[in-house]
Amino acid sequence: MNILLLGAPGAGKGTQAELLAEHLHIPHVASGDLFREALRSDTPLGREAKGYIDRGELVPDAVTIAMVRERLAAPDSREGVILDGFPRTIEQARALDEVLAEQRQKVDLVAFIRVRPDELLKRLSGRWTCRDCGGVYHTLYNPPQRPGVCDACGGALYQRPDDRPETQSRRIEVYLAQTSPLVEHYRRRRVLVEIDGEQDIARVQDDLRKAVTGKQQAKA
Ligand code: AP5
Repeated sequence: MNILLLGAPGAGKGTQAELLAEHLHIPHVASGDLFREALRSDTPLGREAKGYIDRGELVPDAVTIAMVRERLAAPDSREGVILDGFPRTIEQARALDEVLAEQRQKVDLVAFIRVRPDELLKRLSGRWTCRDCGGVYHTLYNPPQRPGVCDACGGALYQRPDDRPETQSRRIEVYLAQTSPLVEHYRRRRVLVEIDGEQDIARVQDDLRKAVTGKQQAKA
């Protein structure tokens, strides 16, 4: 199955994608993580993306589509993927359809994780991310056992530079203007389910798994 997680910055896409990927044994492909990896490795892609990410703007479609296309060509994507943060524009959605059609696949399920803007800001402000494995924590909602240390791999936790207050607000504005139209786009295609993202992490995951099971049964 190819599953998209759609939602504003801080809605919990990464947190949920990680849990769902483990459950379904398919890869979690996050465009933001691919960009951050390129930044860390100081590749031409990373250098090109940096300014956009620092300002909370979207990286241009052509660059983003080429990066995700390459990732989806990897053999581990054949049985399906969980996409987190891609697509973010109608043009990216069309490109994704093309890439999947080349592999005789399609978008099976789009889970829209809905969270109010004031809650998004709280989540982004308290987020800590592992430098080594990308594990995500929150000072109040999902704290690590030892402050500053990743439970999963022992790596050091850091706060993402684009979680600064001025960039947080810009990212939410950009989401509303450029990405939220995808909700209607996928609703019209009858692949969208809405998930209440303001429940605790385990309940959001339960709702997601129910939606996936429903879709699997409908396909069978
Ligand atoms: P990206 O990395 O994709 O960031 P984002 O979409 O802004 O999403 P986030 O990672 O901020 O949030 P999330 O929804 O994954 O929430 P999380 O699970 O971490 O993109 C970064 C930048 O890269 C973009 O601004 C852009 O420049 C560029 N980019 C990426 N993709 C692109 C594309 N397709 N096109 C163009 N440019 C692109 O959770 C947040 C916090 O809340 C955590 O602390 C977590 O512990 C906590 N939490 C999660 N769930 C819950 C819950 N249910 N209850 C309480 N706390 C919770």
